Amino acid sequence: MEQAFGYPDVQNVDGKVSVVFPPDHPGHRDAAYHDRRVAMAEAAFRTPAGAPAPDVAYTAEEDAVWRTVTTSLVDLHVKFACQEFLEGISRLQLPADRLPQLSEASARIQQCTGARFSPAPGMLAPRDFYSSLAERRFQATQYIRHPSLPHFSPEPDMIHEIIGHGSALAHDRWADIYELFGHTVRRLSTREAVGAVSNVFWFTMETGLVREDGDVKACGASLLSSCGELENIARADIRPLDTAAMQNQPYVVTGYQPVLFCAESFGDLEEVLRRYLTGVRDENPG
Ligand SMILES: [Fe+2]
Repeated sequence: MEQAFGYPDVQNVDGKVSVVFPPDHPGHRDAAYHDRRVAMAEAAFRTPAGAPAPDVAYTAEEDAVWRTVTTSLVDLHVKFACQEFLEGISRLQLPADRLPQLSEASARIQQCTGARFSPAPGMLAPRDFYSSLAERRFQATQYIRHPSLPHFSPEPDMIHEIIGHGSALAHDRWADIYELFGHTVRRLSTREAVGAVSNVFWFTMETGLVREDGDVKACGASLLSSCGELENIARADIRPLDTAAMQNQPYVVTGYQPVLFCAESFGDLEEVLRRYLTGVRDENPG
């Protein structure tokens, strides 16, 4: 079943922070959830660039969403996740019963690979997001998805950031690729070239697949942090890994993926991404 939602609009105008949910967002009619999101966005805007995330006093309801989703994901990961993801998530030693603090997950990741999290108020401009990756710093949100829709989030939340990206950042081979995305965007100047790299990031780091012993496994953070996305893989149009094809392939940011790209192995994914990222130029973004 296809689901699609609009993104919240998060703004900071002269210190006045607003979060506006589109009518189809699961939190649209929930005033308490809205106020919570504003408070977390304000805290993120107050945090100096690159500084550690402030701790959040998560509520029992928020902890319950984490428990619900992570309990379901454990079984799905055994079936659908690639080996490198399973290695990465085991290094995080995440609590099962409560939301971890972003700073807590960040400290574990830093011990593993030197990568870390810093807080983000919401979706970031692409150049801002990628530039921090060059410092092995991943800007992550601290809120959790709305409790009415635990198995799919139309936007990045704590489950997506920590389980999806955190597990990858705790793995040396993967953390190196994130950093390479950052350096690549830093040396590009045109919007077209950064857009091309964003497309490749989407179809690999967010929604990528790899083959393992003939089976298709998920390696992208968006797939690995969503029960619905993992179960949707069987319904997707799965194509061979091809960075040129990714440039022109439309994708759904706020719904299940109709088209996915699959590498022959994790090593194949690494090799193709290194070749693409070191070769992409402003004048030749494809
Ligand atoms: Fe993501």
